[in-house]
Amino acid sequence: MKIHLETERCIIRDLEESDLDGMFDLDSNVNVHKFLGKNPIKTKDEALEIIKNIRGQYKDFGIGRWAIEDKATNDFIGWTGFKREKKLRPDRVYIDIGYRLREKFWGKGIGTETALACLKYGFETLSFDEVCGCADIDHTASNAILRKIGLQYIEDFEFKGISLHWYALKKSEWKIK
Ligand SMILES: CC(C)(COP(=O)(O)OP(=O)(O)OC[C@H]1O[C@@H](n2cnc3c(N)ncnc32)[C@H](O)[C@@H]1OP(=O)(O)O)[C@@H](O)C(=O)NCCC(=O)NCCS
Repeated sequence: MKIHLETERCIIRDLEESDLDGMFDLDSNVNVHKFLGKNPIKTKDEALEIIKNIRGQYKDFGIGRWAIEDKATNDFIGWTGFKREKKLRPDRVYIDIGYRLREKFWGKGIGTETALACLKYGFETLSFDEVCGCADIDHTASNAILRKIGLQYIEDFEFKGISLHWYALKKSEWKIK
């Protein structure tokens, strides 16, 4: 099991096929998918496909979303971290930062804690020049995390008829504020 980093409460590690039950709980939840196209999965086979796809990204690009594990209980909390993204903005390929937590872990600061640690790791260890992110304009919590970790609002754009806020941060501007 590859551990990438640790925060006060969490281990951030590669996603494994043994995370299947946690991933099914995460992605079959209609509340989790409220701002993600409202199309939660229905079967564990679909959850397994998602895990395999992410593990394929580790191989192909060296990055992909990482599992968040509760240090105290070893519970699967959800995922965070980076993805080489090319579908959302047809004019560019970029490093996206994102997060998705099981509902019972919401509202405890874990989204912010883990995203902040990932961003530091992305700039310092993975040497990214720029990290970008986006969220539905009505998604208060996700927009709050992107702003709190220091990404700068750039513009709005549309994807599949949904308006999103677009953020970016260059390594050269990181921590300058
Ligand atoms: C978005 C998500 C990761 C937030 O994680 P979290 O651990 O609950 O967030 P935090 O506790 O770190 O809170 C981040 C900020 O959002 C605010 N917030 C959290 N939940 C909120 C809610 N339901 N409504 C409004 N604000 C909320 C917090 O108050 C905090 O802001 P503040 O510091 O200004 O007070 C989580 O709700 C989730 O996984 N949602 C489903 C997947 C998803 O939508 N991912 C993002 C796609 S762009």
